[in-house]
Amino acid sequence: MDQKRILLIVGGGVAAYKALELTRLLRKAGVAVRPILTAAGAQFVTPLSLSALAEDKVYSELFSLTDEAEMGHIELSRSADLVVVAPATADLMAKAANGLANDLASTALLATDKPVLMAPAMNVRMWQAAATRRNLSALMADGVRFVGPDEGAMACGEFGPGRLAEPPAILEAILALLAGGARPLAGRRAIVTAGPTVEAIDPVRMLTNRSSGKQGYAIAGALAALGAEVTLVSGPTALAAPAGVQRIDVESARDMLAACEAALPAEIAVCVAAVADWRPAEAGGRKIKKGAKAPDAIALVENPDILDALSKSRRRPHLVVGFAAETNDLDANAKAKLARKGCDWIVANDVSVAGTMGGDDNAVAIVTKAGVERWERLPKGEVARRLAQRIADEFA
Ligand code: CTP
Repeated sequence: MDQKRILLIVGGGVAAYKALELTRLLRKAGVAVRPILTAAGAQFVTPLSLSALAEDKVYSELFSLTDEAEMGHIELSRSADLVVVAPATADLMAKAANGLANDLASTALLATDKPVLMAPAMNVRMWQAAATRRNLSALMADGVRFVGPDEGAMACGEFGPGRLAEPPAILEAILALLAGGARPLAGRRAIVTAGPTVEAIDPVRMLTNRSSGKQGYAIAGALAALGAEVTLVSGPTALAAPAGVQRIDVESARDMLAACEAALPAEIAVCVAAVADWRPAEAGGRKIKKGAKAPDAIALVENPDILDALSKSRRRPHLVVGFAAETNDLDANAKAKLARKGCDWIVANDVSVAGTMGGDDNAVAIVTKAGVERWERLPKGEVARRLAQRIADEFA
């Protein structure tokens, strides 16, 4: 990492003390750190501590004659390989999302031509506020990368997402971005749906299907291995969540859709789940008794289509990938599905081949508007790795 250089913007929040530890870790890793300390940040850590650990001067003023003479703020904003904002407060995110430039930190963020990584830290309600969600979406769309926030107890006494990611995790995200290529999806968020859904007929009976979740879990793991921050929304399976993946357990299609919407914004969505197309119209709270005669029928109503909903969402991920399980006319059916659901790619697999559902191998074709790309029969793990790499190439 020698000669790599970051511009570290330290915003104002209790978590600013962790920026000191981050600086120490970065220096230990051989990365040069040039700090900008905001006025609010200086309420929490001193310029002297930051400067001592960074072994560099701390910049704070936009209109400092001496600083401007040595290094103008535009030059400062471009003097590093990467700009890191830690902690990124709600205020700094709002400024950057809207292009405000009324202090040195926001000016540097607007003027830089380098990649930006933000590590947000704020109260849970501030993080969940509609305005912050909007700003987060806008920043992601602008290509800003994110690490964290973590969930946990906060200095303000509340609990939830909003804690600054731990310095080693921020360091890892920084090193991945500086290394480039090795973790090309670092800072990107992905939603993966996997497994079957379960639709209740009554409190003890259900409609479900044979999906094992293997392909979806493998894709979630492969995206995480390339650095993506993955939320795996999973129906009931016998599988453990892959390392570094956040799993959300759901049962019904409606729960799965709600969990996916709650995980937005994200830049990538891969819908692998075998979602039940229909659910019983009435799933009463009482068990249906056997009685003298079998029920004539179970009335069904249509479930929401999650792939369709994500593709047409106001907060649509940049890349939406669906799967198509087909037994016949694979290409034609997949192309029709692509158009109907409005997604970007369909990974079509032929489930008429024995052993695909629940098995360890998969023969797929990637269907895009540009055409059909057929892959040989591969283990599901390899299909996942190739697909994750193809997704990373899309963002390169
Ligand atoms: N899908 C979904 N929500 C549904 C149904 C399907 O998100 N309610 C997604 C699946 O995860 C998959 C894709 O849509 O990515 C295609 O699923 P498939 O069952 O092949 O297609 P259907 O829409 O059910 O169409 P058909 O049964 O006519 O093939």
